Amino acid sequence: MNVLIIGSGAREYSIALALKKDKNVKDIYFAPGNGATTKIAKNIDIKDFNKLAEFAKENSIDLTIVGPEQPLVDGIVDIFKKEGLVVFGSSKEASKLEGSKAFMKNFLKDNLIPTAKYIESSNINEINNFIDSLSLPIVVKADGLCAGKGVIIAKSKAEAKEVSKDMLSGNSFGDAGKKVIIEEFLDGYELSVFAICDGENYKILPAAQDHKRLLDNDDGPNTGGMGAYAPTPLIDDELYKKIEDRVVKPTMSGMQKINAPFEGVLFIGLMIINNEPYTLEFNVRFGDPECEILMPLLKSSASELFYKGATKKLNELNIEFLDKVAVGVVKASRDYPYKSSKASEIFIDESKIRNGHISFAGVTQKDGKLYATGGRVLICIGIGNSVKEARDNAYEIAKYVTFEGEQLRSDIAYQAIK
Ligand code: AMP
Ligand code: GLY
Repeated sequence: MNVLIIGSGAREYSIALALKKDKNVKDIYFAPGNGATTKIAKNIDIKDFNKLAEFAKENSIDLTIVGPEQPLVDGIVDIFKKEGLVVFGSSKEASKLEGSKAFMKNFLKDNLIPTAKYIESSNINEINNFIDSLSLPIVVKADGLCAGKGVIIAKSKAEAKEVSKDMLSGNSFGDAGKKVIIEEFLDGYELSVFAICDGENYKILPAAQDHKRLLDNDDGPNTGGMGAYAPTPLIDDELYKKIEDRVVKPTMSGMQKINAPFEGVLFIGLMIINNEPYTLEFNVRFGDPECEILMPLLKSSASELFYKGATKKLNELNIEFLDKVAVGVVKASRDYPYKSSKASEIFIDESKIRNGHISFAGVTQKDGKLYATGGRVLICIGIGNSVKEARDNAYEIAKYVTFEGEQLRSDIAYQAIK
């Protein structure tokens, strides 16, 4: 089987690593990939979706896997399907679950899926009245995609009103902020649960925990994610069952009802309060860095999982995971997440990398050397028999892959080790 992976991050890199374990996977291509994916696959430089579909046909691609949200929201899956290609990812219509927070919140309400109390509106008076009715803090969200930056937790009502006004004016997030969601603040702990879906059937993966803030003790600015681990002990069978019954099942049937059956990865961002799951958000793709720690835990075939997911055959699949824990520690560049940083060379002592591996994201290759050129540069993944062992292995690997200005958290998985 030949596979095309759309994307350029460590998430997509980790999918390729999992596919490479499969004997039935022959060639892997990335569009566009990064400076390290050339070592495990071929990079192709085509952006237009129609041209990519043409490439897939000409190169006998049997399966295309779409990593990031933007091409999904822009309809890449619909174009590939129209060309008769097998593609794993959500349709343009179904991708509204991530592309529009107003759509997502209304969907949750219509399908009686527990979530934070909210309104969505473009009317400043209506917004201000709702803000006045809530207690502090207050969550303000831009409707559209904002690369993870569109959520503000306001500490005062004045701040919530100011932020809403800025969003509506288009100053903060352009058109993405022309509609805002005001939400009550939920106080619990967060979990990421992923379900691989084929429109009818689904497979739930072991729950993971991300670390969104830049600094230790969940301090500093929000980022795309500075590290993750799975499976987390913060979930038991009862909670899994509640998430399946109250979130996954109604989402699958709700999407069927509106003629947008959900295919691809349903990423459920949850807040857990007193062992009850509240859905904060949906994404229509794997989390990054959650994917990087889930892929190495997959015992059964990755190509079969994605292929069956893309061809409505998940009911035939028996998905298995290793009885291990994976912890991933992200290394980001000096000025992340504020601005881009000067390129700096990455040094790796390959002989010392054991009990895990590295997945690469913001890297460029030049004259045989690897340079850190992106925000999140790479992630060190440790595998072990316990959270502690996996974490020690991840931090051990981190000693042997270094670059100037690197930023990393020293407390990934702290909630599981307390
Ligand atoms: P979202 O993109 O909606 O997941 O929001 C990003 C982050 O903001 C989440 O991962 C939470 O940490 C936080 N957040 C969003 N909504 C709420 C809420 N209603 N209550 C508390 N925290 C929230
Ligand atoms: N790790 C969170 C995300 O991918 O959105």
